[in-house]
Amino acid sequence: MGKEDRINVWSERWEQGKTTWHEHDVSYALKNHGKLLLTGPRHRVFVPLCGKSVDLKWFYDGGHIVVGVEAVEQAILEFFTEQKMSYVTETLTWGKLFKTEDNHLLLYCCDLLNVDIKALGKFDAVWDRGSLVAVNEDDRESYVKLLKSLLAPDFHYLLNVNVYTPNEYFSGPPRNVPPELVECLYGDSCQMEHLETVTRSKDDPKLVKWGIKHMGEVTLLLTPRN
Ligand SMILES: C[S@@+](CC[C@H](N)C(=O)[O-])C[C@H]1O[C@@H](n2cnc3c(N)ncnc32)[C@H](O)[C@@H]1O
Repeated sequence: MGKEDRINVWSERWEQGKTTWHEHDVSYALKNHGKLLLTGPRHRVFVPLCGKSVDLKWFYDGGHIVVGVEAVEQAILEFFTEQKMSYVTETLTWGKLFKTEDNHLLLYCCDLLNVDIKALGKFDAVWDRGSLVAVNEDDRESYVKLLKSLLAPDFHYLLNVNVYTPNEYFSGPPRNVPPELVECLYGDSCQMEHLETVTRSKDDPKLVKWGIKHMGEVTLLLTPRN
């Protein structure tokens, strides 16, 4: 899939208000396991495919430096409006930067697969929810390669993935990304710890709509392989 198509599907979802993945509260996985992710006072935290996640503000309020990448400008604008935060912008050759004046929250509007990795720098922490599972299968290897290139030597990477059996009506996003697949993708440089599995109720309206009988949300912690 070309860059335009990759982003257009998401732009349409934002335009039509079809953002059912968006949560109004901070993620339960962050509340439960954030301490394992944020092991120091002022971490550089990366949030790929960040949407308008309220988790961004949670990291910011915790005193961390937060960097998100989101392709759809509407999402970034909605984030700043809903969080009642002001911002300044900068035009870059590879995207547009929206940031708070204190430089502690930086949201890059661009295709993640086109970022300038030197400009982003290295990250102590990565929060990946609705991100790896949102990427097309064809782009998965590029996504993982990019993410690995952004990790500081002593990184902590918290990953929340969906696990289910796809059917002819629904195969995502969120795509089925079981821990075995995460091991295949990241295992060369990361060790993986299973932290939690939350099972969605089979009466969950989304599962009923998708014709999916069982879905687990698995939270994994990736750290450097010794
Ligand atoms: C499923 S949503 C998850 C958003 C966020 N992580 C959350 O948990 O609320 C995926 C987001 O990634 C954005 N996106 C998809 N492909 C992208 C790409 N290649 N580069 C940057 N953003 C992308 C979409 O616009 C959408 O906001």
